[in-house]
Amino acid sequence: MKKQIRKAVIPAAGFGTRFLPFTKAVPKELVPLVDKPVIQYVVEEAVAAGIDQILIVTSSGKNAIQDHFNRTGDLERRLEETGKTALLEELRAISSLADIHYIYQQELNGLGDAVLCAKSFVGDDPFAVLLGDTVLDSSTDVTVTGQLAAAYAEVESPVTALEPVPMERISRYGVMDGEQAGEALYKVRGWIEKPAPEEAPSNLAIASRYVFTPDIFAALARTPRGKGNEIQLTDAMRLLLAERAMYGLRIAGKRYDLGSKLGFLTGTVEFGLRRPEFREAFAAFLKEIARGL
Ligand code: UTP
Repeated sequence: MKKQIRKAVIPAAGFGTRFLPFTKAVPKELVPLVDKPVIQYVVEEAVAAGIDQILIVTSSGKNAIQDHFNRTGDLERRLEETGKTALLEELRAISSLADIHYIYQQELNGLGDAVLCAKSFVGDDPFAVLLGDTVLDSSTDVTVTGQLAAAYAEVESPVTALEPVPMERISRYGVMDGEQAGEALYKVRGWIEKPAPEEAPSNLAIASRYVFTPDIFAALARTPRGKGNEIQLTDAMRLLLAERAMYGLRIAGKRYDLGSKLGFLTGTVEFGLRRPEFREAFAAFLKEIARGL
């Protein structure tokens, strides 16, 4: 098995019911953080980790995702004519980020089913999975996918990103049961879906990024429909765990779930405050608002 991760799968086919009515006609993966859609952050994270082949899993009504990564001749010509060269370069860079492929998830049977759509794209290689509606902001100069890829090169087994979450919120997440095997590395004993705080084996929640080996596909193929009548990725991971070693990595970074309305609001504030051109005015505005709270 190769040690380097060259391929990534980005599931982006889901309905996005948590963000209705916005997601009725617009994919939630195109929700912006300031001025860039979530899925562009996701693609850039993968590319920065050395990945050059990307498969985006889409579905009906989500063609705008492809439009975002394709060249736009008319718009480019207009920017050229009006001398907006910096913007032109920025737009051109989006289309040359990576070799991006698309596959259609015929029926929205859940995240596990979306990953299964990538079977022939992946072949015999290890690969990363990055959820298309979630930004992982690394606190080091290595992206979270880069952190997972480095851990994979060491253990040559699947590695899942883990983020510590407060115990009062633990029952919203898939949680790892395991023992520490390195500074931030854990050997996994079990994956527990949405435990009550008193039953949670740890405070480490699955954080929207994974590195898998191709044996996940056989596990997915025999995963029965679970919660919500969907094929759950976590259920397949539990089946796989009976057969092989799996690891979790406590990531250096923070997750922003843009598939939720509150995640969008808080993410917008944090990312907005980081932008030098808005920082001062935006901070003053927020202070003003906070006085009235
Ligand atoms: P979510 O768990 O947020 O599910 O998906 P969802 O159905 O999209 O959204 P809600 O819960 O109804 O609001 C996590 C990621 O997996 C993709 C989504 O597009 C998202 O990027 N996904 C989910 C698929 O690609 N296919 C599916 O069948 C479900």
